[in-house]
Amino acid sequence: METEEILKLNKDSWELSAERFFGRTALPEYGPLAPTEHQLQLFGDISDKKVLDIGCGSGHSLQYMGDKGANELWGIDLTTKQIQTAQEVLRNQKVNVSLFESAMEEDPGLPHTYFDIAYSIYALGWTTDLRRTLMNIHNYLKPEGIFIFSWEHPMHDRIKYTGEAFHLEKSYNLEGPEFNEAWHNNVVIFHRKLTTYINTLVETGFMIERVVDDVLLPEGEVPQDYTKWYSVQKAQLLPTTFIIKARKRS
Ligand SMILES: C[S@@+](CC[C@H](N)C(=O)[O-])C[C@H]1O[C@@H](n2cnc3c(N)ncnc32)[C@H](O)[C@@H]1O
Repeated sequence: METEEILKLNKDSWELSAERFFGRTALPEYGPLAPTEHQLQLFGDISDKKVLDIGCGSGHSLQYMGDKGANELWGIDLTTKQIQTAQEVLRNQKVNVSLFESAMEEDPGLPHTYFDIAYSIYALGWTTDLRRTLMNIHNYLKPEGIFIFSWEHPMHDRIKYTGEAFHLEKSYNLEGPEFNEAWHNNVVIFHRKLTTYINTLVETGFMIERVVDDVLLPEGEVPQDYTKWYSVQKAQLLPTTFIIKARKRS
């Protein structure tokens, strides 16, 4: 499939499913069963910072940033419904809000060497072109600006519960576009190894400051939810999410 076709397929699916995801994975959360910003404190002091959200979805992470005192809130997202919802969610923010409906692979005219912080919560992995997207983010940031993102751990969808045990179903090593099972094969997501994310960050001019792949498991008795996409039983065996904090090299 051509890149244009993948983006169209994914956008069409997101337009239909957007509502299911409103605010579902948003800061201070980094992902299902993953440690939160309250525990990790990766962002530091946000007050007076210009922030950019890549794949901002319904705007709930930008709302968190606004409530923490950021002085400009910028977001980019592929999906019309998400951008419209984000406009609504952010309408009472006291600071400048600028939202762009665009693929993250493109630069929709965002200012360069401008942002103190760029981040992406469970969205970066949707890119069809990781290198180009990271080069864009690098352009938007000031020297020493930080980029933090979370995404599903690339081992997570390789392993599936088959009724008796968790089985390794797909190769971790083979990278490339795949129809995604969690979306009933109506979207294409690129499988990439963790090292591909790390090495592409380094190659596009970032320094890695922290990599997190811990899980945060509920205490006490937990539901027997082996077959759920993000099941506690699976998270007892492997991470759901990885989080990387990087900094633009000056
Ligand atoms: C799980 S949601 C992100 C939630 C959001 N980050 C938050 O904090 O509330 C993933 C988002 O990625 C967006 N997306 C998917 N492919 C994209 C692309 N190629 N470029 C930009 N956004 C994309 C979807 O429209 C969706 O809003």
